[in-house]
Amino acid sequence: MTVSRHKTRHRGPVITMLWNTALEVRTRVAVGAGARTKLSGILAQINAGKRVLVLCQPTTAVQWLREVLSAIPSEDYQVTTLEVPDGETCKTTEWLLRVWEHLQERRFDRRDTIVALGGGSVTDLAGFAASTYLRGLNLVIVPTSLLAQVDAAIGGKTGINLPAGKNLAGTFFFPKAVLADPELLATLPKKQFTSGLAEIIKYALIEETVAKHTDYELGQKRLFDVLQQFVDSDFDYEDPVCAGLITSSIKMKLFVVGRDPHEGGLRRVLNLGHTLGHALEKVADYRLTHGEAVSIGMAAVTRLSVALKKLPKADGEKIVNLLEGAGLPVELPPNLDKAKLIDSMSHDKKREGEALKLVIPTTRIGVVDYEYSLPMSELSKLI
Ligand SMILES: NC(=O)c1ccc[n+]([C@@H]2O[C@H](COP(=O)([O-])OP(=O)(O)OC[C@H]3O[C@@H](n4cnc5c(N)ncnc54)[C@H](O)[C@@H]3O)[C@@H](O)[C@H]2O)c1
Repeated sequence: MTVSRHKTRHRGPVITMLWNTALEVRTRVAVGAGARTKLSGILAQINAGKRVLVLCQPTTAVQWLREVLSAIPSEDYQVTTLEVPDGETCKTTEWLLRVWEHLQERRFDRRDTIVALGGGSVTDLAGFAASTYLRGLNLVIVPTSLLAQVDAAIGGKTGINLPAGKNLAGTFFFPKAVLADPELLATLPKKQFTSGLAEIIKYALIEETVAKHTDYELGQKRLFDVLQQFVDSDFDYEDPVCAGLITSSIKMKLFVVGRDPHEGGLRRVLNLGHTLGHALEKVADYRLTHGEAVSIGMAAVTRLSVALKKLPKADGEKIVNLLEGAGLPVELPPNLDKAKLIDSMSHDKKREGEALKLVIPTTRIGVVDYEYSLPMSELSKLI
C-alpha cells in the first residue's frame, strides 16, 4: 500500500491513496473537498462497463445525486438509480433481493458497476449486492456520512442484518474506489456528524499502537490534540481540519486492515469501545446511534483501565472530557436493563472461553492493549 505522510491540515487538493487490498484489488481512496468530482475519471480508469446503478437514500440531497449522475456521461453508460429505505431498514434480504432483481432486469454483467451514495447502511448493502451478483461487479463508494467516510466505506466489510441480529450475513469485498468528500457532509444532521466523531476519537485513542505495528506515521501533532482543538472550536465539516481528521482516520484503518485483514490480531484495535457499544445498541433497540453507543463503550473501558491502574487518572479524564465535549454520551442511558446488557456482551464474538477479549487504553493516550482478558464473572465492572 502506498500512502502519503500523515497530515492533519490540508485545505486544497484532494489526496489520493492507493490501497492494494488483501484480495489483490487496487482501491483508489480520494479524500478532501471536491473528491466527488473525481467520479467520472475513476469510472473511466476502472473500466466501469456499460451499465451503472446508483444506490441512494431518501435523505440524499438532490444536489449530490444530480452531481453524481452528471459525472456519469449518458453517452457512455446506461445509468439507473435505486433509492433504498433509510438506515438499517435497507440492510435486509428483501432489499438485497430488490437490488439483485434490478441488476438482472437491466442485464448487468460482471464488467458493470454499482455506485453507493449514502451512509454506512447503503454502503454495506451496496457492497453485499456488488460482491454477490454474478460473483462480483465493480463497486465505487461515495460515502455521505462522517461515519461512513472514516469507517463503513473503508476496510472491505459488507453486510446485511438478519432477524437474529445485525450484520449476520456479509462478505469481504473491496471497492474499486472510495471518494470521501467532506463537502457532502453539508446536509448531514449534527447528531449524525457527532456519531462519526466518536469513531475519529477511537482512532485518536489507538494512534500510537497503530504507528508501532504498521507503516502509519505519526504527525507532528497527535490526532487526539488536533481533535481536542477541533471540538473546542465551533466545529463543523467546513473547518479545513475536518478533512485532515478524515484522512488520518482512513489511513489508520487502511494500514490496520492491510496488516491484519481477517482480524487475527491487530485489527482488534478497531473494536475499542465496541463490545459494550454493540450490546448497548441492541439492548436500547437502536435508539442510540452507533457512535453514541461506542462513546459510552470507550468511556467504560477508560474507567476500567484507570481503576486497574493501567492508565493515569488524568489521561482517563481527558478522554472522557473529549467525548463529552464532542457532544457524545459517556454514561449508560437511565433505566437500561443491566442484566440484559451483560447477557448480550457474553454472546460477543470476542468471547474466548470464560473471558472476553477487550481493547483498553493503557499507559497513555494513544496506546491500547488489544488482548486484555476480562473474566466473564467480572463483566459488571464495565458498567
Ligand atoms: N462495513 C463496515 O466496516 C462498517 C463499519 C461501521 C459501520 N458500519 C455500518 O454502517 C451503518 C452506520 O453508518 P451511518 O451512521 O452512516 O448509517 P446511515 O446510512 O443509517 O446514516 C445515518 C443517517 O444519516 C443520514 N445521512 C447520511 N448521509 C447524509 C447526508 N449527507 N445528508 C443528510 N443525511 C444523511 C442517513 O439517511 C441516515 O438517516 C450501520 O449499518 C453499521 O453496521 C459498517
